[in-house]
Amino acid sequence: MISNTHNFPAKELKGQFPIFLKKIYGKPLTFLDTAASAQKPYSVIDEVKKCYSENYSNIHRGIYYLSSTLTKQYEDTRIKVSKFINSEDPSEIVFTKSATEALNLLATSLCKSYINDDDEIILSHLEHHANIVPWQIQKSNNIKLVISELKDNFSLDIDDLLSKITSKTKLISITHMSNSLGHITDIKKITSEANKKNIPVIVDGCQYIAHGKVDVKELGCDFYVFSGHKIYGPSGVGVLYGKKDWLNKLPPYQGGGDMIEKVSFEKTTFASAPQKFEAGTPPIAQVIGLGAAIDFVQDVGIEEIKSYEKFLYQHAYEKMNELPNVKIIGHSENKGAIISFTMNNAHPSDIATLFDQEGIAIRSGHHCTQPLMNKIGISQTARISFGLYNTMEDIDILIQSINKVNDFFK
Ligand SMILES: Cc1ncc(COP(=O)(O)O)c(C=O)c1O
Repeated sequence: MISNTHNFPAKELKGQFPIFLKKIYGKPLTFLDTAASAQKPYSVIDEVKKCYSENYSNIHRGIYYLSSTLTKQYEDTRIKVSKFINSEDPSEIVFTKSATEALNLLATSLCKSYINDDDEIILSHLEHHANIVPWQIQKSNNIKLVISELKDNFSLDIDDLLSKITSKTKLISITHMSNSLGHITDIKKITSEANKKNIPVIVDGCQYIAHGKVDVKELGCDFYVFSGHKIYGPSGVGVLYGKKDWLNKLPPYQGGGDMIEKVSFEKTTFASAPQKFEAGTPPIAQVIGLGAAIDFVQDVGIEEIKSYEKFLYQHAYEKMNELPNVKIIGHSENKGAIISFTMNNAHPSDIATLFDQEGIAIRSGHHCTQPLMNKIGISQTARISFGLYNTMEDIDILIQSINKVNDFFK
């Protein structure tokens, strides 16, 4: 029997998120969709507002006060992100507009310079479309996507993945945590084999980044990507971590201002990384907001968040598992706080619609993982996901609302 209490200050933290002042159809908001996008604390909102109202200008281009102040704040955020994920050097951090853009950057630049016809890339059935479609778009040059299998509980079968490595394998690109089911991947088990064979590993850390400590050196990966909006920061900014050697040798993804050394009509030379990958005016305010979000998460403590969210998961799982008609998809001990479920008597979109009437926000659908849904043999799930502001009361409201679904669809 697990304890009913945890000393994590979730209620206090909830008070730092203005969205929770809002009533939905006259009811308090119960937000159970953090996996789609996390809510924003005052500190992030205030920092973005301050950027626009007190410091705004373009960066890297002006020698005047505003520009140099904001350039410093932008570059300081690069240092902050680098320390947050323990990269060797801030120059290994590229700001993009999203994780999706970071993955497209990698697919384009790697396929242009490193991956050739008949080479193999290993993905898994757990991947988000953002780690499938960019590789397919590049498939004009006959790259083979090799898909690793899942275990019975739909977590990644790493032994199967490792057994799929051949002399043709040029890359492994894999999620750190499934956005649909919450399973966490043992990345080190993959990199320890891949590193021996000089196969680079990309980790899609979108879901893991706000829910557990990321140390790219310890993980041993070559690239790590995530989006700012999943870690309580603004939308419109993503992070691509790449080992220095890789970023130095990869060609740029987009061309434009700020990424060049010298331009003439005959020949252009490029700036060194990370500038080489940041063409044009970057998402300045979003990067600065991301810096505030990282401060926020670090002040709370990532290990404390992880422990509390595990506590929430276990309670929700146990209570939901006892309810009639509820089928939880893919339980394991090594999961983040995401629960996908179906009900025998109600379609996921009906569940989400009824929940909405109670002020509960959840996601229903394929969660941008159609191949995973096909593998499971369903088309959709209802998905709840927790953040650091969720409480045991939220779980009570969830359970009451599932009971209401059962009453409604008798
Ligand atoms: C596992 C995973 N990868 C990639 C993405 C894409 O992130 P974004 O839409 O922020 O680019 C998401 C977003 O839901 C995700 O959950």
